[in-house]
This record gives sequence, structure tokens and C-alpha cells, in this order.
Amino acid sequence: METFRLTFPLLLLLSLSFFLSLSAQMTGDFKCSGKTTTCLSLVGYSSKNATTLRNIQTLFAVKNLRSILGANNLPLDTKRDQRVNPNQVVRIPIHCSCSNGTGVSNRDIEYTVKKDDTLSLIATEIYGGLVTYQKISEVNKIVDVDKIEIGQKFWIPLPCSCDQLKGEDVVHLAHVVKLGSSLLEIAAQFGTDNTTLAQINGISGDAQLLADYPLNVPLKACTSSVRKDSLDAPLLLSNNSYAFTANNCVKCTCDASNNWTSSCQASSEIKPLNWPTCPPFPQCDAALLRVSCRRPRACVYAGYSNQTIFTTASPACPDSAGPGNYASTFSSSFNIVMVLIQCALLCLCLL
Ligand SMILES: *[C@@H]1O[C@H](CO)[C@@H](O)[C@H](O)[C@H]1NC(C)=O
Ligand SMILES: *[C@@H]1O[C@H](CO)[C@@H](O)[C@H](O)[C@H]1NC(C)=O
Ligand SMILES: *[C@@H]1O[C@H](CO)[C@@H](O)[C@H](O)[C@H]1NC(C)=O
Ligand SMILES: *[C@@H]1O[C@H](CO)[C@@H](O)[C@H](O)[C@H]1NC(C)=O
Ligand SMILES: *[C@@H]1O[C@H](CO)[C@@H](O)[C@H](O)[C@H]1NC(C)=O
Ligand SMILES: *[C@@H]1O[C@H](CO)[C@@H](O)[C@H](O)[C@H]1NC(C)=O
Repeated sequence: METFRLTFPLLLLLSLSFFLSLSAQMTGDFKCSGKTTTCLSLVGYSSKNATTLRNIQTLFAVKNLRSILGANNLPLDTKRDQRVNPNQVVRIPIHCSCSNGTGVSNRDIEYTVKKDDTLSLIATEIYGGLVTYQKISEVNKIVDVDKIEIGQKFWIPLPCSCDQLKGEDVVHLAHVVKLGSSLLEIAAQFGTDNTTLAQINGISGDAQLLADYPLNVPLKACTSSVRKDSLDAPLLLSNNSYAFTANNCVKCTCDASNNWTSSCQASSEIKPLNWPTCPPFPQCDAALLRVSCRRPRACVYAGYSNQTIFTTASPACPDSAGPGNYASTFSSSFNIVMVLIQCALLCLCLL
């Protein structure tokens, strides 16, 4: 009897700890098993030392500074050498690919070993805990983690995800957990709830929340009218951010107070990519715009292709007849430019 009284609680305790250990600890990996296999995802980076946007851009192999500016809603004329204070969090958009149920940044992000670096320092200090040294070692097939050489290059696999949340598109943010914070606190900070956070990170509660590890935080995204076949689909922006799209010809912003709807305008703030000039926004059919379903409709950006920009009447009305999408007349203006260039070349040759 005496032994029973002692062993029963012990057994209970043992089985309880067994069950607790079954629900995984945070591993720094993010689940990514949805239909979408590539997307833009965010990491929240902070450095213990003061740094600059230029350094951050280099560290994360970000092509254009403006994508960092947009993700943080900083003015477009912010300089590269803008100081970033210690522990200030900067959001960085990264290209995410999913395979085997896990999301990882693509191979663009590479680090070159400098004097006095260790793998652990690279993971925790230089990349701010967004990645573990074990993960760097694993993907780079490093045999001896204590033997790395100056000048050696390592791919840095950052965690990310493209998964939807309850059927809705979200922007995933890798948030490095601060010592002493709780799921409830983090959920409040990012406009989500603690149950969702626990679920998508495969943990059961605060006891399994590890400080200095990345937590997958789904950020609600503004909806847009971008078509599924558009080259920028799905255009996802989190609250208080902006991005250029359609070869830099369109600037979209997301402001939660605008009913979580992206607002996209033609922009000439920066030079177009691939196109000699920006094609105009095509007009929507006036008759379609007059159809008022829930609210008055407006002619809004609906995506782009190699040749054109699309617009559509928004909000979408299921009951309205006729096509809703309009392509701009970009090809004709493109042809005129080509003809002019060819004429100029011909004149030069004749001279
Ligand atoms: C996916 O996982 C399997 C088994 O775990 C492994 O053999 C394979 O190499 C993985 N593929 C990729 C692309 O990581
Ligand atoms: C941060 O600053 C300290 C003191 O100046 C220096 O020892 C350390 O190497 C710096 N860390 C990084 C990651 O640059
Ligand atoms: C979420 O917070 C509530 C208290 O508001 C708590 O009862 C619940 O256990 C928490 N859930 C998780 C998964 O942490
Ligand atoms: C959206 O961002 C603005 C500016 O940072 C902030 O004031 C507002 O609370 C945010 N709204 C939501 C719902 O997250
Ligand atoms: C806000 O957006 C929702 C969903 O997109 C829509 O149903 C609703 O009518 C919108 N409300 C206003 C005031 O625009
Ligand atoms: C866009 O144009 C490029 C080069 O002209 C071509 O390689 C590519 O396949 C085109 N893409 C689409 C979606 O039409």
C-alpha cells in the first residue's frame, strides 16, 4: 500500500512529462506545408550593437534598400547609412521556399567568415538569433563546427513560411523571443492570439517558449484585387507597410485603418524596371463602375503581366455581368518607342 502511494504519483509525473516532451520544443524551424511553395516572408532583426541599414542590407542580401524601407514604412528617401540603434527591430523581407514541410530562405543569404567569428557568434550575434548554429552547420555540411576559416562562405537558412492561416493569406514574421516574454504578450504585440501562436509553432504554452529563438508570428495581410495570374500574386502586405510592384510602376500600401485593403497607385517615384516607361492604368468600363453592390466601386490595380497593367472594378460584385478586368495599352506605346529607337539607329548608320 505504501509503495503504491509513492509510485502512483511518480508514474503520473513520469507519464505527464512524457506527454509534454511529445509536443515539440521550439526548433527554430517553421512549418510550411501549404499549397504555396514560394513567397515573401519577414524576419525581425535586431543587433546588439548599433548598425546601419547598409549593413543590414548586405547581411540579408536584400537587392533594393526600398524593400526594407517599405517593410518598415520608412520614407523612400531614407539614406543607406541611416543608423539603426542597438536592439531596434528592423523587418526584412526574405524570399521563402518550402520543401519537406519546412520553410527556409533561399540561398541568396550568404555570410563570409571574418576574424574571431565562431558559428555560434554568427547565429546568435550577427544574425540576432534568427538561426541556430546547428542549422547553419547542417545545411552547409560542416564537419567540425569548431573549425571554420576566415573567408569561408556559409549559406544562412532563415526560417519562414508561406502557409495560410485558417484559409486566409498572412505574412509570416520570424520574431526572436525576448527573455521573460509570454505568448499572450507577443500575441497582443502582433495582433494575433496565443492559441494560434502555440498551434503554428507546435508548442503547448509558455513553458516551451524559448528565449532567443525565432517564433513564427502570422501577421494579418491587407487584401488586394490582384489577379491570380498576375506576376505579383498574391500581393501580401502587413499593416503599416508599402511595396513597389509592376516593375516599380505601382506603389501599394497597407493601412489597417483602411479596412485591411491595399491601396495601389500609379507611381513615378522610381525608375521602371524592364519597361522603358510605365504603362498607364487602363480605365474601367464606366457602366461597371456605376454598378454599386455593397459600396460605390472604384477602378483599382489588379496586377500586371510582361506587357500590361490590369485594373478592375472594386469591390467585386458577384451579380454584375461582363468582364471585370482591363488591360492597359502598353504594347502600342512600347512599339512606338521601339520604332523611334530603330529610326535613330538607322539615321546613325546612314551618317
Ligand atoms: C526531405 O526529407 C527526406 C527525409 O527526411 C530527406 O531524405 C530529403 O533529403 C529531404 N529533402 C529535402 C529537399 O530537404
Ligand atoms: C559589438 O561591439 C562589441 C564591443 O565593441 C564588439 O566586441 C563585438 O564584436 C561587436 N559585435 C558585433 C556582432 O559586431
Ligand atoms: C492563452 O491565454 C489564456 C489566458 O488569456 C490562457 O488561459 C491559455 O492557457 C493560453 N493558451 C496558451 C496556448 O498559452
Ligand atoms: C497598424 O499600424 C499602425 C501604425 O503602426 C498602428 O497604429 C495600428 O494600431 C495598427 N493596427 C493594427 C490593427 O494592427
Ligand atoms: C470591409 O471589408 C470587408 C471584407 O472585405 C467588407 O465585407 C466590408 O463591407 C468592408 N467595410 C467597409 C466599411 O468598407
Ligand atoms: C516575359 O518575358 C520574358 C522575356 O521577354 C519571357 O522570358 C517570359 O517567359 C515572359 N513571361 C511571361 C509570364 O510571359
